Formats: sequence, structure tokens, C-alpha cells
Amino acid sequence: MSNLFLTPRYIITGKGALSQASENVKQLGKKALIVTDNMMVKLGSLKKVTDMLDSIHIEYAVYSEVNSEPTDTMVNGGILAYKQENCDFLIGLGGGSPIDTMKAVGAMITNTGDINEYLGKIIPNATPPLVALPTTAGTGSEATQFTIISDTKRDIKMLLKGPNLMPTLAIIDPIFTTTAPPNVTAATGLDALTHAIEAYTSKKSQPMSDTFALSAVKRINKYLLKAYKNGNDVEARTEMSIAALEAGIAFNNASVTIVHGMSRPIGALYHVPHGLSNAMLLEDCLNFALPGTPERFCDLAKAIGIYKKGDSDIEAGEAFIKEVGKLCKNLNIQTLEEFGVDKEKFFDNLDKMAIDAIDSGSPGNTRREPNKEDIINIYKLL
Ligand SMILES: NC(=O)c1ccc[n+]([C@@H]2O[C@H](COP(=O)([O-])OP(=O)(O)OC[C@H]3O[C@@H](n4cnc5c(N)ncnc54)[C@H](O)[C@@H]3O)[C@@H](O)[C@H]2O)c1
Ligand SMILES: [Fe+2]
Repeated sequence: MSNLFLTPRYIITGKGALSQASENVKQLGKKALIVTDNMMVKLGSLKKVTDMLDSIHIEYAVYSEVNSEPTDTMVNGGILAYKQENCDFLIGLGGGSPIDTMKAVGAMITNTGDINEYLGKIIPNATPPLVALPTTAGTGSEATQFTIISDTKRDIKMLLKGPNLMPTLAIIDPIFTTTAPPNVTAATGLDALTHAIEAYTSKKSQPMSDTFALSAVKRINKYLLKAYKNGNDVEARTEMSIAALEAGIAFNNASVTIVHGMSRPIGALYHVPHGLSNAMLLEDCLNFALPGTPERFCDLAKAIGIYKKGDSDIEAGEAFIKEVGKLCKNLNIQTLEEFGVDKEKFFDNLDKMAIDAIDSGSPGNTRREPNKEDIINIYKLL
């Protein structure tokens, strides 16, 4: 069996990546639209990027209205800014939200109609060049052909996809992540862990994605708690930024499974941040998935060094999932109730959430495929 494997055209990693990237950025166009959020303006992260652009005499305009997870309205604002300012390429600076918004803006510059018409469809036409500069070590959006945009009328998170959404240049400079507060570090780091575990245990896994997934799991297991405890630990931040990239590359080529499928409806209805809703579901979903691929969960236990000689695959898999649960606890992941979601309202919506989860296609990639009842039963455990 043969497999396609996609990555960004250029990836630059490590401290100083932004400055090294100037040579590549010069080739991409004359005027950039920088898509970002107010936090990046406030922290001075935007200035680092504009200083680099000034140094190579590239013009820019800034669209900084992505102040929550992206919606169709924010994308439309970005399209307007891009056209009014006569830009010819895009830079996404921030967590997954600005990067996803940038991708959607790029898509709608060269494709006709409205963003909401592209739910589940492949984006057909090439976008302008896309530069992704992540400031969280989480989504891996810098290396994926996906963007997730909320349709504000239908209350769903739309997954838009296609190789045309793959960034041209990914700049993985860990310095931008050192300002992330502990709760953001925890949730985004667990998002990356979820990507890696789901890619490795997906029906669509392939040898190349396996390599990236296992490497990401090892790095996250070793460095996430360190980055959480000390945001200025540059080694931990560097390793986490590479891990998030690896996990992005892995799931881009192997897909995600049940956790992401069930997480998106929680985000769409209750505005729980993406990494947090994944983390809330992680242990229960993995316990469900384990019997579908005990040998792959055993590999994960071996990767983080907790496999004990004589353990069956199932025992090793259970030990791995327990370790993931322990990590979530140490990272003080909130429960649904602690986040402020009304349990009664949550129970009223289970049917819609289960249908939306299945319709997203992700749960179908799980090696033990869940039906609607299974999904409802897992939601009830939260
Ligand atoms: N495209 C993909 O492949 C993909 C994969 C997973 C998730 N996503 C999407 O990504 C979005 C979530 O992205 P995210 O988890 O990175 O969060 P985010 O971009 O929404 O950022 C979360 C918060 O952290 C702040 N922040 C980000 N970086 C910071 C830094 N360095 N210092 C201080 N504050 C910082 C932001 O301002 C924001 O308030 C969701 O919409 C999710 O659906 C996309
Ligand atoms: Fe994710």
C-alpha cells in the first residue's frame, strides 16, 4: 500500500528561526497581511515580526481581530483587510486561532463563494503564500492542511481542508511561546499530545506518520510539565514547539479520531477552548479506543518507558492511559463543571453533539469505531 505524505514547503525550527526566515519571506511577495490577536500586539510579539519585515523592506498591514477561536465573521473581516490593503501574501502570528483564520482568509481570496459553503470540501484553488508562526506549542496548524472555523449561524465547528491550506513556510521559534501562561501551556500541550496519540492509533496511520507521532509523544511526556512549571525554561519550550510540529505533521497525514470528533461539539456549543475540551475527554476516549488496537497502545507505553516485561498489550496500554491521566491531573485540567458548563444543559444537547461528532468523520478513524450510543455514554462520563 502506498501513502501520500504532506509537509510545509519550508520549516525553520529553533531559537532565531524568525531572523533566519527573512531570506524565505523575501521571496513570497511584496505586502503581507499579518493575521493575529490583541495579545500578540500587547506582548510585543507583533513588533518582532514587523521589525523583521522592515529589515527586508517588505510592506505589511495588520488584522488583529482574532480574539477568540475563529468564526466566519472574523474570516470575512480578514478578507476585507487583505483586499483593501492590496496584500499578496499572508502571515499568521499566534496560537491556532490566528493561524487557522489566516488559512481561511487565504482560501477565500482565490476561491469563490462564502466560507460556509466549504464545510467538509477540499479547497480547490491554490491560496496566496501562507506563513505560519505559532506562539503556542499545540495545534500544529503550522503543518496541517486543515482549518477549523465556527459557522456562527449553525453553531458548528467546520473542518475545511486540502493541500492548498498547507503553509508555505512554518517558522517554529520557541521564543514566541515563552510568554504563554500555564493554563494555555497545559491545554495546548495536551492538544499536541492528543494529535500524536490519535495519529498513532488511527486507522489511517502510515509508517511516516508513526515516526513523527512516537517522537512527539516522547518529547511531550518529558517536557510538557517542565514548560508548565517554568514558562521561561527555553529547553522545554523548544522541545515542546518541535513536539507540537511533529504531532501536527503526524495527524495531518493520519487524521485524528474519537477525541477530536467529540471535542469540537463541546467547543462549538460551550466555547470551551480546543485543547481543554480535548483534555477533558482524553482519558475516557482512550479507554474506549484501547481494545481496538492494544498493540499500538503498548508501543506508546514502550515509547515513554513504562512498559514492564511480561505485561500484556492491554495491560501496557492501560498503564499508558493512566500516565496520560496523571499528566492531565498534574496540569490541573479543569472539569466541565469547573469551567462553568451547566450539567443539565449539557445533557439536553447530547443527541445533537453525538450526531455532529459522527458527522465530522473523525470518530470513524478510530480502530474501535464508536456508534452514537457509545459517544453519548462517553459524554455522560464528563
Ligand atoms: N488547523 C489545525 O490543524 C488545528 C488543529 C488543532 C486545533 N486547531 C484550532 O486552533 C484553535 C486553538 O488554538 P490554540 O489552542 O493555539 O489557542 P488560541 O490561538 O485560541 O490562543 C489561546 C489564548 O492564548 C493566548 N496566547 C497564544 N499564544 C500566547 C503566548 N505566546 N503568550 C501569551 N498568550 C498567548 C491567545 O491570545 C489566546 O487568548 C482552535 O480554533 C482549534 O479548533 C486547529
Ligand atoms: Fe487539536
